[in-house]
Amino acid sequence: MKIRVPATSANLGPGFDSCGIALSEYLFIEVLEDSKNWVIQHNLSKEIPTDESNLLLQTALKLAPNLTPKKLKMTSEIPLARGLGSSSSVIVAGIELANRLGNLHLSLKDKVQIATELEGHPDNVAPAICGDFVVASFLDGDVRYVKHHFPDCDVLAYVPNHELLTTESRSVLPETIPYREAVEASGIANVMIAAILNGNLPLAGVMMEKDKWHEAYRKHLVPHLAAIREICHEEGAYASFLSGAGPTILILSPEEKTEALFARLQALDKQAKIDLLHIDTEGV
Ligand code: HSE
Repeated sequence: MKIRVPATSANLGPGFDSCGIALSEYLFIEVLEDSKNWVIQHNLSKEIPTDESNLLLQTALKLAPNLTPKKLKMTSEIPLARGLGSSSSVIVAGIELANRLGNLHLSLKDKVQIATELEGHPDNVAPAICGDFVVASFLDGDVRYVKHHFPDCDVLAYVPNHELLTTESRSVLPETIPYREAVEASGIANVMIAAILNGNLPLAGVMMEKDKWHEAYRKHLVPHLAAIREICHEEGAYASFLSGAGPTILILSPEEKTEALFARLQALDKQAKIDLLHIDTEGV
C-alpha cells in the first residue's frame, strides 16, 4: 500500500491561516510488511525518529491505537522547515495510514477536521488532503472549507538553504491589530480570493503582495523577499509572497516569463534551490 501527500503553500499572502494550494512535490509512505515493532525507514535527517515517536505514527496510532505494527518506508521530496508544509504532510499521511490500515472509512471532511485539530490551522492540511486551492475557516472547533480550481500558471519555489521554524515565525506576530487595519486586511484577502475564483491572476497577484496580516512582521526573518519581489516585478511575474511561515518564497508566473525569472533568481544566491512546480489537483 502506498500513500502520496503533496507539499503545500499556505496563506498566499493575505489568506493568513485560511488559504493554501497543493504543490507537485510529495511525501511518499509505503507499507512494506508486518513487523514485531513499528519501524520507519526514511531518507530524512538522522534526528527524525524511526519508531512510534515519529509524528506519522503518533498521528496514526492516536486514531487507530490497535493497528498491527508494520515496517514502513517514508520518502520525502518536501524540504523540512522551509514553509512548504512538510510537517502537515506527515500529519495527513498519518491520518490516511490509520484510515486505510484500520478501515476507518473517514470522509474527506473528517480528514480535514482531524488534521486541522492536530495542526491548529487548516491552510496546509486542507489543500494537502483535497488538492488544488482551498479556502478554509476554523471556528469554534469546526472547519469549513471550499476547494476551487487554481488558475493555470507556473509556480516557482525559491527555497533558501536554511530552516525557519514555524514557531519562531509565529512568535513575531502581534496578539491584536487595530480594527481599521483588520477591515483593510480582510478586504485585500476577499478581493484576492474572488480574483482567483474568476481566473484573474494579475489582480490576485496584486492583492497577494498587499498582505497586512503577517508579512510585515516577518520581514526581518526573510530578508531575501525584497530582492526577489523586485526581480519578479521587473520580469513580469504575477506575484511573490512568503510561502507559509517562510523562509521559502513562492512566485506565480506566466509560463513565458518563467525562464528569464528562473535565471535571475538563480544568480541571486547559488545556495538557494529553485523548484519549478505546478498545482497538484488531487491531494492525498
Ligand atoms: N498560516 C501559517 C503561518 C502557515 O503562516 O504561520 C505555516 O504553518
